[in-house]
Amino acid sequence: MKLFVYHTPELTPTDHLPDCAVVIDVLRATTTIATVLEASAEAVQTFSDIQQLMTVSEQWLPEKRIRAGERGGTKVEGFDLGNSPLDCNPETVGGKRFFLTTTNGTRALQRVQKAPTVITAAMINRQAAVNYIVENQPETVWLVGSGWEGGYSLEDTVCAGAIAHALISNDPQSVEVSNDEVIAASALYTQWHDNLLEMFHRSSHGQRLLRLNGHEDLQYCAKSDIVDVLPIQKEPGVLVKFS
Ligand code: MLT
Repeated sequence: MKLFVYHTPELTPTDHLPDCAVVIDVLRATTTIATVLEASAEAVQTFSDIQQLMTVSEQWLPEKRIRAGERGGTKVEGFDLGNSPLDCNPETVGGKRFFLTTTNGTRALQRVQKAPTVITAAMINRQAAVNYIVENQPETVWLVGSGWEGGYSLEDTVCAGAIAHALISNDPQSVEVSNDEVIAASALYTQWHDNLLEMFHRSSHGQRLLRLNGHEDLQYCAKSDIVDVLPIQKEPGVLVKFS
């Protein structure tokens, strides 16, 4: 397996795609997506554009849909929810389609949506992503951080490092480290793995969320392997629970 890490979607090659793309937005889009599917939503449908989300979600009965999303970390006006995973429980989202737009995570998903397999990962479901890759052995894997508006995000790269570290430890012979970012991300994870919350407090988006009273979100997003759900794309932009 050829393994690549890209810190942002903008850094991914534009002339080809991997067999498996893993989109990562720990704060908070991919943490929210895993939580929503664990809470038995029918599916998560992602949009980078608010107007497009409104048009598509309009075709669903109001009681069968949730409109959620943020810009700059703050809930989009008129939407049911923002992008806090802590708002997503079975009572709120169970059985519904969760329409989501976010600043960076949904853009990253769009970038790789034509790959044969697209899954999402965060710290909370890292092991589920690792298990899928180990069991399916895709020939090329991209771990793609969402970053923030084109820049690098510590929390996404540390999660990419956590996945890379687990894959390499599991079977060093089967993983070909295919760019230097894999080594950098693994080193970041090795340095911070027992203190992710402190890292998130120092990160620029973590600080942005703290200014918006997001302390509990950071605490939740920093937990490892607490959700055994793997979101997988079933059609462009639509993620369901892998079973
Ligand atoms: C994003 O996609 O940029 C994030 O998930 C923003 C957020 O923290 O809600």
